[in-house]
Amino acid sequence: MSVCIVGAGVIGLSSALRLLETRPDIRTITIVSEQFPQDQPINHTFTSPWAGAHFRPFPHRDSDYASDKRESEYTRVTYNYFKRKSKQWLSEATVEFMNGIDWLENPSIEYQRLGAGYNGSSLEKFQQQDSNLPAGVTFGCSYETWCLNAPLYLLFLYDQVMKKSEQQNVNIRVKRIKLEKLKDICELYPDVNIVVNASGCGLQWEGGLDPKCFLVRGQTLLLDVGDKHDTIPYAHATITHQAKSGDWTFVIKRPGKNGKKAYYILGGTKQPGDYSVMPRDTDTEKLIGRGKKLFPELLENFEIKNVNVGFRPLRVGGSRVELEFNKSPDGEQMPVIHAYGLGGMGFETSMGVAYHIQKLYNNVFSTSKL
Ligand SMILES: Cc1cc2nc3c(=O)[nH]c(=O)nc-3n(C[C@H](O)[C@H](O)[C@H](O)COP(=O)(O)OP(=O)(O)OC[C@H]3O[C@@H](n4cnc5c(N)ncnc54)[C@H](O)[C@@H]3O)c2cc1C
Ligand SMILES: *[C@@H]1O[C@H](CO)[C@@H](O)[C@H](O)[C@H]1NC(C)=O
Ligand SMILES: *[C@@H]1O[C@H](CO)[C@@H](O)[C@H](O)[C@H]1NC(C)=O
Ligand SMILES: *[C@@H]1O[C@H](CO)[C@@H](O)[C@H](O)[C@H]1NC(C)=O
Repeated sequence: MSVCIVGAGVIGLSSALRLLETRPDIRTITIVSEQFPQDQPINHTFTSPWAGAHFRPFPHRDSDYASDKRESEYTRVTYNYFKRKSKQWLSEATVEFMNGIDWLENPSIEYQRLGAGYNGSSLEKFQQQDSNLPAGVTFGCSYETWCLNAPLYLLFLYDQVMKKSEQQNVNIRVKRIKLEKLKDICELYPDVNIVVNASGCGLQWEGGLDPKCFLVRGQTLLLDVGDKHDTIPYAHATITHQAKSGDWTFVIKRPGKNGKKAYYILGGTKQPGDYSVMPRDTDTEKLIGRGKKLFPELLENFEIKNVNVGFRPLRVGGSRVELEFNKSPDGEQMPVIHAYGLGGMGFETSMGVAYHIQKLYNNVFSTSKL
């Protein structure tokens, strides 16, 4: 089989790795993408390198139960995938398990009742925190989670895909191109049997983007805290504070590879429909002001290494992970697996999405044909 994956973000690369891990029938993998993890500087239209990134579970909302449940399940698959990996793998991948803490000033009913996806039966070391909460916080919980260094993790994934292909004698083609429409793949690579559409916001078969997709701007600060990088409390805990005003303030460790120096992400804004790629000083000042109150040890002695601006690819009604058949120019039916619109959760859902893609792949090319 010859598989073409559109997109080299966390979703495209995780899918490539998962397919290589499970499908010996694949003889050729083609990764077609406008951007790649090695690119410097990082383009703002490429979301993955700008992420925190940590796993922050949420309780399912009644209003969006089906998509919440599916996405929450993806996060558990990713968590378990990381859990099963060896210490060595994790440290090369920059994945670190640690305490996750949520502080809310105005928790929704779903949080208050510790509903599905957010309780001790679905999270490890889950605990409610009633004392020592910051002023204004009325709800606190902690659980086991992980943080990773997004740019380094992407390079690691890319490397794993290359290594696995070589080991398994799979022919790998990497092509940098901006596709006008997904259909163009049929002309570029006539041998392709199936396409995975991991283009972030979803490039359409005939061109254009999924009209249900939209971007939410996120500005964060990359902080260097000097010698204290492995002794401040945030070396072992990632915290998210949700204020009554709607502001979110979070600290996420960016572990170094193989135990090297860590940096910290202080975030962040959530600005739908704001396409400004330029860092905004007012956003930076507000973040530092909130951070000083909530995470004093982080902002005791720090240097801003970078002001990051990224755009989360959201989709009305939730992400789309689905199989569809499209007509290629020579009239054949081309299977396309869509995997886009992961919003602010692309890393935490990544391996779950990759497992789902593999299942959809199995539906098209059943294992009995192996
Ligand atoms: C500030 C911020 C903080 C975040 N924090 C977290 C977090 O803590 N945890 C978490 O899980 N997630 C987090 N996210 C979200 C996460 O970054 C995204 O969900 C994830 O990166 C989406 O990955 P993707 O592979 O779908 O898209 P992308 O990374 O955008 O990749 C899309 C790929 O498709 C290619 N492509 C697109 N269009 C075309 C085309 N026409 N032709 C060719 N190639 C094309 C691109 O070049 C790229 O390689 C955060 C995001 C932001 C902005
Ligand atoms: C980033 O990507 C966009 C979208 O393709 C492109 O228009 C822009 O020129 C790129 N920016 C840089 C600095 O390369
Ligand atoms: C706790 O979470 C699990 C798994 O998501 C769910 O099945 C269960 O109903 C939840 N418990 C409560 C009390 O909602
Ligand atoms: C890829 O994703 C987009 C989402 O915008 C979807 O609408 C489109 O149909 C997908 N591409 C293909 C080949 O169908």
